[in-house]
Amino acid sequence: MKTVLVTGANRGIGLGLCQQYISQGDVVIGVCREGSSQQDLLALKTISGNRMHILHADLHSENSINQLANAVQGNFKLDILINNAGVSANETFGQWTQSAFVDNFMINSIAPSLVCQALLGALTSEAKVIQMSSGVASITHSKQFADAPLDAYAMSKAALNMFTQRFAWQNKENGKIVCAISPGWVQTDMGGQEATSTVEQAVIQLISVIKGLTKADSGKFIDESGSQIPW
Ligand SMILES: NC(=O)c1ccc[n+]([C@@H]2O[C@H](COP(=O)([O-])OP(=O)(O)OC[C@H]3O[C@@H](n4cnc5c(N)ncnc54)[C@H](OP(=O)(O)O)[C@@H]3O)[C@@H](O)[C@H]2O)c1
Repeated sequence: MKTVLVTGANRGIGLGLCQQYISQGDVVIGVCREGSSQQDLLALKTISGNRMHILHADLHSENSINQLANAVQGNFKLDILINNAGVSANETFGQWTQSAFVDNFMINSIAPSLVCQALLGALTSEAKVIQMSSGVASITHSKQFADAPLDAYAMSKAALNMFTQRFAWQNKENGKIVCAISPGWVQTDMGGQEATSTVEQAVIQLISVIKGLTKADSGKFIDESGSQIPW
């Protein structure tokens, strides 16, 4: 039985990860904003036999992230930390706004970094730290996505990838495994209904890939089938 913390747990891929980990017998800490719709997460808690815990944090707030860490420290030892919460601005060149760029960097790159810092002491010595990245973060593949209105999003996920590498190096001498994973194109509010994977298909793949990660994978950027994505 593993203990898994998932941010952005109230909907989309985060909710799917919580449902799948609960169904396979693990302990799950689902993190979401206090005011957000949480019916599905509450329903999961009801059937989880006390294995589902819901904690609140607004990832815009450093204070809120530190309060989350206080609620976790001493109560849980995390085998898996999944920085899943994310936002996507969808602004094209000509419509760009500073606030959208700041929001994307805040939630997609700064918050995961601060969450890792705040929760480091709650991780087991061989914990897996997963950053939910995106294929559009690949600089090598940037031409493929250049026309999509994803500038702020892609830049913020590339910054997340840089943090992933740096955090992996910083944990090189211990047992922790740090990876950036792209979930594929998934049918959620962010991915849209024309996406190629359902949430259930995506999370089954993601959980299988996470389970198979070894120390040799630390610092890698991989897709939902476990293949490496070029930076
Ligand atoms: N879907 C795809 O095709 C796709 C592709 C590549 C990568 N990804 C990545 O996968 C992850 C999950 O995406 P998704 O498709 O499941 O997105 P989603 O359905 O839009 O869900 C986003 C989650 O992030 C949470 N969140 C946003 N801002 C937050 C904040 N300030 N504080 C706390 N939580 C916040 C949301 O909570 P609220 O309900 O409170 O807003 C929600 O739970 C993201 O990192 C995304 O970039 C998705």
